[in-house]
Amino acid sequence: MRICILLFTFVVSLASLPAQSTPSPRPLPTGAAEAEIEAKISALIGKMTLEEKIGQLNFPSYAFPREPQIEAVTKGRIGAMLNVANLDHVRVFEEAVQASRLKIPMIFAIDAIYAFHIAFPVPIAWAATWEPELAERAAEAIARETAQIGVNLTFAPMIDISRDPRWGRVMEGGGEDAYLGAAFSAARVRGYRKGGLATSAKHFVGYGAPEGGRDYNGAQISMSELFDRYIPPFQAAIDAGTETVMASFNTVNGVPVTANRPLITDVLKTRLGFDGLVMSDFAAIMELKNHGVAGDLAQAAEKALHAGIDYDMESKAYDQHLEDSVKAGRVPVAEIDAAVRRVLRVKYRMGLFEDTPGGQRKRPPPLDEASVRKTARDVARESFVLVKNNGATLPIGPQSGTVALIGAAALSVNDHSWYGPAGLEKPRTETLHDALKARLESKQTFLFAPAFADACGLSFEDKSKAVETARAADLIVFIVSEDCAVSGEGASRVDLGLSGVQGEMLDALAEVGKPIALVVETGRPLVLTDASEKVASVLIAWHPGTEGRTALAEVLTGEFAPSGKLPMTFPRSVGQIPLSYNELPTSRPSTGDRYTTGYVDEKPTPLYPFGHGLSYTSFSYSGLAVGKPLLTRDGTIDIRVDVTNTGSRSGQEVVQLYTRQLVAARSRPLRELKGFQKIKLAPGKKKTVRFTLKASDLAYHDDTGEPVIEPGKFDVFVGGSSAADLKSEFRIVAE
Ligand code: NOJ
Repeated sequence: MRICILLFTFVVSLASLPAQSTPSPRPLPTGAAEAEIEAKISALIGKMTLEEKIGQLNFPSYAFPREPQIEAVTKGRIGAMLNVANLDHVRVFEEAVQASRLKIPMIFAIDAIYAFHIAFPVPIAWAATWEPELAERAAEAIARETAQIGVNLTFAPMIDISRDPRWGRVMEGGGEDAYLGAAFSAARVRGYRKGGLATSAKHFVGYGAPEGGRDYNGAQISMSELFDRYIPPFQAAIDAGTETVMASFNTVNGVPVTANRPLITDVLKTRLGFDGLVMSDFAAIMELKNHGVAGDLAQAAEKALHAGIDYDMESKAYDQHLEDSVKAGRVPVAEIDAAVRRVLRVKYRMGLFEDTPGGQRKRPPPLDEASVRKTARDVARESFVLVKNNGATLPIGPQSGTVALIGAAALSVNDHSWYGPAGLEKPRTETLHDALKARLESKQTFLFAPAFADACGLSFEDKSKAVETARAADLIVFIVSEDCAVSGEGASRVDLGLSGVQGEMLDALAEVGKPIALVVETGRPLVLTDASEKVASVLIAWHPGTEGRTALAEVLTGEFAPSGKLPMTFPRSVGQIPLSYNELPTSRPSTGDRYTTGYVDEKPTPLYPFGHGLSYTSFSYSGLAVGKPLLTRDGTIDIRVDVTNTGSRSGQEVVQLYTRQLVAARSRPLRELKGFQKIKLAPGKKKTVRFTLKASDLAYHDDTGEPVIEPGKFDVFVGGSSAADLKSEFRIVAE
């Protein structure tokens, strides 16, 4: 009850605070300031007992009864805690810090990723906007809400690249492409940091490439692929100032990342120059036993510390064993000191030593609820991807006549938020039913049938009534939803079709013979091959969050035109996975003949390619020109293209630039995204869009992970998707 009252007070105060100007992220200290911090850290480490040092590496989850944890903090044996999601509870531990000998402030962390109070669309939808600034605003808003409860670090952003939609966690990330993923990684880090939270870029590395798409499964990744495909979002996060990085659960090439010194110390800390702290994932040190690389928890602790894992999240392995390991001579104190230094460095960088107990002084205040909702609505609107629209079935207008909305998801107020402190009242969410009904013209008739007994269509409520309702309409809007319980961590799937009886319902609706606009709420690419054939339009709405259904009605009725583009390939069949636009050429490029790359029972191409997405208007591309078609290894090249809105209403287009190196020492991908810009054009208007590429943007990595800028010829393609066909060329020359 007390928690509820406290949280209610928090909500009320959120709603009543005025909007604030955008703060800047806390700058990382450089030069003399940095040297001063390092000197303070040395002095502090000099005063610490071994027990206090190990305490700084101990990062348990908040547990009840909490007295043992309060006592441990007082003794300096806990340096950070996760899931303390209440300001009063945070204060209890801050008081315990004040009672400790060295008074070293604590880190308090939660998974405030796309929701704290107001839920934003899931992060893959952020990437579908192709507008990193929106992601930055979203992250800032979430952080500013979260920081008010004393939390100072978020376990975000999740920046794992994945080409496998069977893996449930694709919903948390930026999709399949390193360039797009890096842009969103940096934007999200900037945003959360602006909002007053430190970030944890996760999960380093290759977690998004589990074999078979099974969560936690191992990945096989060569060094060149690691650096080309998986590391760029981490490098971007580091450059944007992420204070921490979370190591992944999985093995890479047979060695668990949590015990992988070549990856954590040699690659992340040394080669990428990351000098913040590296944390394990939840209980991952303990799970080294399950991986079969540690016989007991003590050995797991020693291996993880030696690999470079500074923070033990929840395993209590460091707390219980490192002291003995040091005394037995198996762990040098220098290894512990190095980890403690990183932890303290991050605490200084976060400004924790300057904070008052209660920690509010340095944090930006929350935004007012209306402005958070506005940002959530903006992200949702821009994230919807219209992948098919035959006969301009959408937008719904007076010409659409009687509209039948079918599907229980239209009554859903589930905002699919992952986080929301216990007891906090869910924010008001409009249903699609209400939002759409309110937006139809007065002359139009609105009909509705839920069809299903639940929002995800697992069973029917009344199939024939839904068919009858559809018969009475001129246009059917059928909303289907992937259950959010089947997106996210531990939610790998082998069947990516419509869940439950939604496919059966679609078959029945298709027989009615009226145009169908299919709206798909999902956290991942689904296999929509059959479904797409039966409908005129398909709008991918992701899981759109608190403001999402209102945004959906705005887009369906044309109040706002769709402008999202797919950040991940939609395959035709699960058997094609992994599938992405940037594959390597093969010895036998697909021609449809049997002895060329492909399948005997399926086309090799995706259903909807990466970068694809339509608007309610159309765009044409012309005049692709390359400034000076020769560039040296330290040179740049200018590329421009004219984009014209050839339709009758204004719209936004994501202009995408792809390159292909035609001949190199290794096979290079058929296409690689190297630039994008989202533009807005009035009908009939033309705009020249310019890109500048550096030769270093065209580098790839060799077998040792070293970047190579190899002279040679490149094709460049510009257009509205990865299938763009407007082409030019240029060349990198040796001198
Ligand atoms: C496990 C997840 O893999 C990670 O992403 C998350 O931050 C932690 N649990 C903490 O909740």
